[in-house]
Order: sequence, then structure tokens, then C-alpha cells
Amino acid sequence: MTEPARIPEHGRNAAELLATIEARHAEDIDWRGGRAFSLVYNVDDHEHEELIEQVGVRYLHDNALNPFKYPSVLQMELDVIAMAANLLGTAPNAGAVSSGGTESIFLAVQVARDHARRERGIAEPQLLTPATAHPAFAKAAKYLDIEHVLVPVGPDGRADVAATEAAITERTGLVVGSAPCYPYGVIDPIAELAGLAAERGILFHTDACLGGWLLPWWERLGREVPPWDFRVPGVTSISADVHKYGYTFKGASVVLYRSRELLQHQFFWYDDWPGGLYASGTSAGTRSAAPIAGAWAAINHLGQDGYLRLAEVVAATTDRLRAGIDAIDGLRVTHDPDMSLFEFGSDTLDIGAVADVMDDRGWNLDRQQGGLHLMISPYHAHIVDRFLADLADAAANHGESRGVEATYGGVV
Ligand SMILES: Cc1ncc(COP(=O)(O)O)c(C=O)c1O
Repeated sequence: MTEPARIPEHGRNAAELLATIEARHAEDIDWRGGRAFSLVYNVDDHEHEELIEQVGVRYLHDNALNPFKYPSVLQMELDVIAMAANLLGTAPNAGAVSSGGTESIFLAVQVARDHARRERGIAEPQLLTPATAHPAFAKAAKYLDIEHVLVPVGPDGRADVAATEAAITERTGLVVGSAPCYPYGVIDPIAELAGLAAERGILFHTDACLGGWLLPWWERLGREVPPWDFRVPGVTSISADVHKYGYTFKGASVVLYRSRELLQHQFFWYDDWPGGLYASGTSAGTRSAAPIAGAWAAINHLGQDGYLRLAEVVAATTDRLRAGIDAIDGLRVTHDPDMSLFEFGSDTLDIGAVADVMDDRGWNLDRQQGGLHLMISPYHAHIVDRFLADLADAAANHGESRGVEATYGGVV
């Protein structure tokens, strides 16, 4: 057991500290080698990586709490919101940049809660989500103290429209669908769900944290994409993470609304403080300017042609991996994914034992309740053959499962 850390009595040498960090960092997951399938989106483009790193360093010390002290950050934030709004079909000023998918979801849930209270007179609004919706919704319900109603999904992994309709009550404040959901990579029937909500004056959120920066290009490549964005009547808010398939470093997501009026519910103004009027647009106070600048640089550096090129690579790699897995005896993709992530499992093999073998070979597959999870980013184009060879071997030759549980995230 190591002793709990204490602040050193005397400051330590910078070179020595950097060497320690380097050594420790080398123990972390090897995402650069294409051996991680979640957590990091490896763009496979050194120039792009170096650019966003430099931009991040340039803005590392700046505080976006008061954008008017940093006109350059303000402009970049407005630009990121406007570019996302243009991509997904809403007004250029009807959104905000947050620190990630979870914060964007919190904000959309808070807006819906307050909309239900103020505009519809519902004291205790409910949040209605399919069981596959990201846990950020359950977390938001807990933190914001609202009731969370979970609706089981259909056998295809998509939200069940009839079951959702049956679960709607007088108190429903927000209905949610994912584009796509994390566990299976399938897109919920957004048009039908949003229609149910709209008929009753209820807000509807599309969680496109994963798909927001990929599905528009997927569609332009001619792939079938069920409707999910603001072109769908009834969709009133969308979360879309730039730090996922927008290919910037962590800490950047966008939450967009159908109108600037809805966004107003998100803003916080406080005039009862000796420090003066305090205003803030998202849940954080002090905010690092670096992710805003990184997002701005990433979007501008890639541009539409860059995103299309990357989407093509991701789509082709997904096809190869899907087909390769389906061709391995005993393995099958469990649902029919609409994007670049999916679950695969087995009716005959001990899938936990297959994962153990893959772990031992240095692959980091995420274990889920129904199988193993893959999420593809551009770099994975380089590892398809090696991965499939190891997987086929693992499927054919494995022992008993070590009983590793399906987990995601963690607390310290
Ligand atoms: C569909 C979906 N929504 C929301 C989130 C939460 O995003 P974040 O981890 O950036 O808070 C994720 C993360 O993977 C996700 O896959």
C-alpha cells in the first residue's frame, strides 16, 4: 500500500516531475495504438492533433466566466454555437457550449423542468427516457430532483413508441430519444417520439452527443439515417459533443434549442450579491477557455470536407468490423446499428471469457450486460485485420470466464 500523498515540503524539480508523469502516463490505456474503443476518438491526423494542442496551450490560463473580458473567446464560442446550429438546423444564437455531454444533458433537463413549471404550471415534472438513454439523464434527475421514468426498449434496441405513449402523464416535462444510444448504436424513432411530445406541448430532447458531429456527414455519404435533428417537428433541444466525433480534446459539447426563448430558461442571473450582478450561461462558474478554443480550431481545421473524409473512413471501418465479427463462428452483432458503434455477443460462447483473452492481448473492449462494445474512430482503420484475427482466435480458444463485471466509468 502506498502512503496517501502529501504536499511536498519543498517544491519538486520540474524535469523530475515531467519524467514521473511520463512514466505513469505510459501505464494508461494505449488509445494511440487503436486498442481503445471508447473514451477517446483517435482522429489519425497528427497535424490536427498538434493544432488543437497548441490552441489549448494558448488558452490554458484564460477564464471564460466573463466572455466580455476575452473578446477572442467570446467570438469563438459564438462561432462554435452558430456552426453547430447551422449543421443541425436551428437559429445561430440558440445554444451554448458546455463542458461535455453530461453538462449539456443537465442543462436541457433543467430547461425542460423550468419550462414545465413556468409555462405549463407543473410543479413536479417528470423526465421520460428509454432504458438505453445515457446515465447522464438519471444523474440529472437525481441532481435536479425530478422523477425519472424509464421505458423499456423494443427487441431492436430502439425506444418503444407505444410504451412511451403509455408512460406519458400530465406531469411529463421532457421526452428523450438518442441518436444513437451508446449501448447498441441504434437511433430511436425520433420523429414518432417527438410527435407524441409535441401533440401534448411537452419538450423533446434528442441526445446526439455521439451522433451530432457524425450523422450529418453519414447522411451526406448517402447512408440511411432516420431523422433526428431540428428538421423533425417537435424536437426542442439537442446535445452534440464536439469532444467526440467533432475531434477536439475533452471539455466541449454544444446544447442547442429550437429557439432562443427556450435557451433563456438556462441562463442564470443573480443581482443580490455584494460582488455585483452575476450572470452565467451554463452550470459552471469559472470555465476553461481552452476547450472552446480547441473546438473552434478543430471544426475550422477539418471543415466540411474533412468531416466527410473522416466519416467515410469510420463508416468503411465499421462495415469491415461488423462483417468480420458476424463471420466469426459463434459471434453476432446483437442489434442493427445506425452508426459507428455496436454491441456483439454470442448465444453459444462464454463472451466474458472471449473478452478475457482479448484483454490479455491488449485490446480494451467494453463489457456490457449483453455482450462487448465497439466504438470506431478513424485510427481503427489500421487495426481491423489484427483485431479480427485475435477475436477469431479468442472465440475458438478460450477458457472459463474470470467473471469481470460490465462497468463504465468509476469513482475514486
Ligand atoms: C449517447 C451519449 N450521451 C451522453 C454521453 C455523456 O457524455 P460525456 O461523457 O461527455 O459527459 C455519452 C458519453 O459517451 C453518450 O454516449
